[in-house]
Amino acid sequence: MFDIIVANGTISTAADTYVADIGIKDGIITAIGRNLEGADRVIDATGKDVLPGGIDSHVHIAQPSGDGIVMADDFASGTLSALHGGNTTILPFCMQEKGGSLRAALTDYHAKAEGECYTDVSFHLIISDPSPQLLGQELPAAVADGYTSFKVFMTYEGLRLNDAEILATMDVARETGALMMVHCENEDAIRFLCDKFASENRLAPLSHALTRPVVAEREATHRALSLAEVVDVPVVIVHVSNGAAMEEIERARSRGRNVIGETCTQYITLTASDLDGMDWEGAKFVCSPPPRDETEQKKIWSGLERGVFNLFSSDHCPFRYEDDRGKLNPKGREDFRHIPNGIPGVECRLPILFTEGVLAGRISINDFVAMTATNHAKTYGLYPKKGTIAVGSDADLAIWDRAAGRTIAHAGLHDGSDYSPYEGRTVDAWPTTILLRGKLMVEDGALVGTKGAGAYLPRELSALAKKAQAA
Ligand code: URP
Ligand code: ZN
Ligand code: ZN
Repeated sequence: MFDIIVANGTISTAADTYVADIGIKDGIITAIGRNLEGADRVIDATGKDVLPGGIDSHVHIAQPSGDGIVMADDFASGTLSALHGGNTTILPFCMQEKGGSLRAALTDYHAKAEGECYTDVSFHLIISDPSPQLLGQELPAAVADGYTSFKVFMTYEGLRLNDAEILATMDVARETGALMMVHCENEDAIRFLCDKFASENRLAPLSHALTRPVVAEREATHRALSLAEVVDVPVVIVHVSNGAAMEEIERARSRGRNVIGETCTQYITLTASDLDGMDWEGAKFVCSPPPRDETEQKKIWSGLERGVFNLFSSDHCPFRYEDDRGKLNPKGREDFRHIPNGIPGVECRLPILFTEGVLAGRISINDFVAMTATNHAKTYGLYPKKGTIAVGSDADLAIWDRAAGRTIAHAGLHDGSDYSPYEGRTVDAWPTTILLRGKLMVEDGALVGTKGAGAYLPRELSALAKKAQAA
């Protein structure tokens, strides 16, 4: 009757926690109840937490990085690392190259992913060149084909859009029902500070954090929310690093705006002082927005506790450290402005939040599931196929072992980088058995599934964006 029964686990969804068996047939959850019988295989989950497989909706893999820089993960290593960290779906970004077509970027990105994935994947788009052709034809066609979310940048030379371009791109989101994600940092303020620091020969990694202050993020967040209000469109504010930017989200919501807030592991664990490491070690923590300080960490925690943040993601963006094409490239080892931005973290996101959030009593296990799986599926058009444990949903399950705590060491991780920013941190639980659409992929910490088991997922419109369109 069933292919697999996951027996007697403590199931948690975003709403409930209870003990039951899960019956799986043809990759789908077909029964949840007590004393289920009749399966080829029974996995005993007594005393374990059975959660929906994690969904990490902010991941960078094999993204062109320019200037001789190469990302450390391809789809094989990136999804393998995600899987071992309890994830069954990830959403990396397919980037339109300046002047290039979206179709070409998608063809190329799909070719990179095809047959290589250990988790399911779906792609967001990055819009770097909102030409009339792109906004009028390519982007609406891509949304109709299931690429229902796209990111724009207010910073990074070569990627940033000006306000007029952001407004025009938001208008396409409104027309098509797609969801727009915005990276909020004021590029001109950052450029001004970078030039000043360079003229004073302050070129070490710490300068990266000092030249991207909270005010640059707060101002851009306010502006992005204001532009979304002008167009009357919902918006996702990604990787919020501090309290002031978070308060902009709360203020916009109090005006009735439809805003999704995302924060990431680095903003509850790292601080700018990590960029001040011995020699050039601080380069290992260079990401944007940068980690702040302990006061800001507390504010981010309060946002997680109060439900200000819908999404907790990794912003996994891996580069190798000791590498000419990574953090210590010939220019980057002398000048912070040439250190590639981004840090690895897809494998550690869930164990860190489980330990410091759930086990430390800051958030409930149901909030954990919401912020790491269910809300990602709802926000990005994958729910209820993904992101929950329910009859009819894909059997994407992570079985957590509270006796499998460990000290994080990069040697035990599976990404393509050569370090972890979370090295030495202790976690008190780990998702040791993982099922992807009913297929056993990881068993007691060991890989038993195969490359290529992960599939590409076209997506519906976001439930959030749909609601706004209907209004
Ligand atoms: O430093 C970061 N976060 N790199 C990844 C790109 C982005 O802005 O999300
Ligand atoms: Zn970003
Ligand atoms: Zn990112």
